[in-house]
Amino acid sequence: MSTIVAPVSRTVPARTVAVPVPADPNPAGHGPLDVLGVPGQVNLDYAATAPCARAAADAVAELLPWYASVHRGAGALSRRCTLAYERARQQVGDFLGVRPDDHVVFTRNTTDALNLLARVLPPGGKVVTFASEHHANLLPWPVDTVRLPVPGSPGAAVRALDAALRELRRGTDGSAPILVAVTGASNVTGECWPIADLARAAHRHGARIVLDAAQLAPHAEVDISALAVDYVAVSGHKLYAPFGIGVLAGRADWLDAAPPYLAGGGATRTVGPATNDVDWADGPGRHEAGTPNLLGAVALAAVCEALTGADRPALYAREQALLAHLRTGLAATPDVVELRTFDADAPRVGIVSFVVAGRDSAQVAAELAQRWQIGLRDGLFCAHPLARRLLTEAGTRSGRPDLPPTALRASIGLGSTTRQVDRLLAALAALG
Ligand SMILES: Cc1ncc(COP(=O)(O)O)c(C=O)c1O
Repeated sequence: MSTIVAPVSRTVPARTVAVPVPADPNPAGHGPLDVLGVPGQVNLDYAATAPCARAAADAVAELLPWYASVHRGAGALSRRCTLAYERARQQVGDFLGVRPDDHVVFTRNTTDALNLLARVLPPGGKVVTFASEHHANLLPWPVDTVRLPVPGSPGAAVRALDAALRELRRGTDGSAPILVAVTGASNVTGECWPIADLARAAHRHGARIVLDAAQLAPHAEVDISALAVDYVAVSGHKLYAPFGIGVLAGRADWLDAAPPYLAGGGATRTVGPATNDVDWADGPGRHEAGTPNLLGAVALAAVCEALTGADRPALYAREQALLAHLRTGLAATPDVVELRTFDADAPRVGIVSFVVAGRDSAQVAAELAQRWQIGLRDGLFCAHPLARRLLTEAGTRSGRPDLPPTALRASIGLGSTTRQVDRLLAALAALG
């Protein structure tokens, strides 16, 4: 792999400010995993878009003076940018544990990555997914996609997938391509899905599996090889690298066999005089036509490097402690009911959705923002089938007939503190 040899400046943009975390500082300290923010604003909406990590801001600031074309110039600036882009690909691939012959394709985000995969499905390919998926993993797939009902437990998910795949293969020679599309962690409940078990079930029936790791990767290690999944999709802006980047990583063959996702410069080897006289490139470039998002790729790679170098079990343990504090506090707050798919103690990342019985969720979110400077999300979280189902289930479980039709979601991550969580709990207890 090439290395960058040019001298660099370590300047950080002047207007970025670190969120003060005096009560219980981020164990990452003022290092690469410190996150930027605005003093006084409590960001509990990491699942929508996480704040920018210092590693990402520094990497962008460092490269900006050199900023020039990628793959398109002989000058020193362009050559450096090309090296930086390809190095970022390598670093992101390493972070995701890709196999030697996998492709790492840069996209705009997870939605884009999953749409790309939908486009390269071989002819006659079938998709199996669950009704609990984010819209990004529900809507790109063909209309005859098998959508399995929301399961009641991780084990039920594996059994349902196994049965569905057996049914799909029944009476066939087993050679038709099948893709299973599942999330690693729910954007509504934070609950983790049994990815390695689902991958085993998929492979037992000769199917492939794509992991939507948009919510899992910011919180836990995601390793394609260790999980034995075929593809992984992630978004930079949920991984502390908010510069319009995403990734689809995985098996090369479908990607190399399909027409380019976008037709244009950079995706070709040669173009002849006739319209159809095009020799498309193989490799990730086939699906990256047009000038690529260099700063996004470099920012994401910088965060990947920083996370790789961090004590991830310690970061995970800290987040789990904060999550437990949040959930315990919510459970003790009058009228608050949590949404969940699995048991209350099922493994989850730092995301909790809930409702305040008798209160409109949008109004609660507005009051939290205006009176308490707390930012969180309200609505159905781009997972309408799941959120609606969980709202119904929460009504039954709590026996409350007055739950609102939409929910609230608090989500935490690297810069979150006990003080911020306590502020949310105090604000909910004091709702006017
Ligand atoms: C589980 C999950 N998948 C996919 C997406 C789509 O991500 P993006 O909006 O970055 O494309 C999201 C976004 O919230 C998500 O939570």
